[in-house]
Amino acid sequence: MDEEQRETIRALPKVELHLHLEGAAPPAFIRGIAQEKSVRLDNVFREDGAYAYRDFVHFLSVYEAATSVLKSPQDYARLTRAVLEESAASGVIYSETFLSPDFCGGGDTGAWKEYLHAMMEVAEEAERDMGITLRGIVTCIRHFGPEKAKRAALCAAETAGNWLVGFGMAGDENKGKQRDFAYSFDMAREAGLRLTSHAGEWRGPREVREAIEDLRVERIGHGVRAIEDLALVDMLVEKGIVLEVCPGSNVTLGVYPKMSAHPVEKLRERGVRITVSTDDPPFFHTTMADEYEALARTFGWDAEMFRSLARTSAEAAFCDETTRSALLKRLETA
Ligand code: HPA
Ligand code: ZN
Repeated sequence: MDEEQRETIRALPKVELHLHLEGAAPPAFIRGIAQEKSVRLDNVFREDGAYAYRDFVHFLSVYEAATSVLKSPQDYARLTRAVLEESAASGVIYSETFLSPDFCGGGDTGAWKEYLHAMMEVAEEAERDMGITLRGIVTCIRHFGPEKAKRAALCAAETAGNWLVGFGMAGDENKGKQRDFAYSFDMAREAGLRLTSHAGEWRGPREVREAIEDLRVERIGHGVRAIEDLALVDMLVEKGIVLEVCPGSNVTLGVYPKMSAHPVEKLRERGVRITVSTDDPPFFHTTMADEYEALARTFGWDAEMFRSLARTSAEAAFCDETTRSALLKRLETA
């Protein structure tokens, strides 16, 4: 790929639907906050300054250690700005980010509202200054268990609206079952929130089926291992379930050994509604522009494919219809 092609890809307007806010924190940002607060962060960074982790479960614990330095709504406001700057630099014009009341006020609804308002304020500024629109999806954390999830769901339900648009589940897919969290997903649905859950990244296709049947989600975080059950793939197509695919994350964490072994192209060819995101970009040494570049290089995706991808993503976004129309128009005229 030459420099001109690379520039064209970088400039394409992008829509990202699967981004963990803390996981998008540049390591230098976390180091800076730790220094300001004189907090020692052991075993979080490599010698070269990048995040240090061995595997997925260790990644989750390093993620939580890095996040532990963020202790106030102001910290999260600064984080939101740093993350939006990175996204905008990759050509992202609309982004949905996962937010966890467990990290923002420990599940307390009053504290959560303060964190949320601080982030919304920055998002509003960024929309004005950088032309990037942000919306939030509250996520419960699977390995924290169903009781904490209920508190996250209550936080989500109490703040559901045009900005806080969804509810989901992240965390360790190998702990418990999707249906253990049905109460929380029901509460969120009743509050008008749209639903997504991480499934089919570490566990197989059955997990994806359970997220759809037991939690009634309309999007799946990852979901890529659905490819191991073609009847399930047909069901995804039939129901119009959207996959939030994070190819770079999957390759870096070893779900697939290399990009050419990733099923995103097969899923797309079979008619599954595919979107592309970064997950936790600095942890996985990626950006939205990098993801696009890898897909162009590996599967020959061209500008027309990426335009269609962005349209699918805008259609699958959890925002209100006014925001969606504006977004689709921006994509059309770009
Ligand atoms: N996967 C699951 N849980 C997470 C992740 C992730 O990439 N990032 C933060 N929590
Ligand atoms: Zn994720």
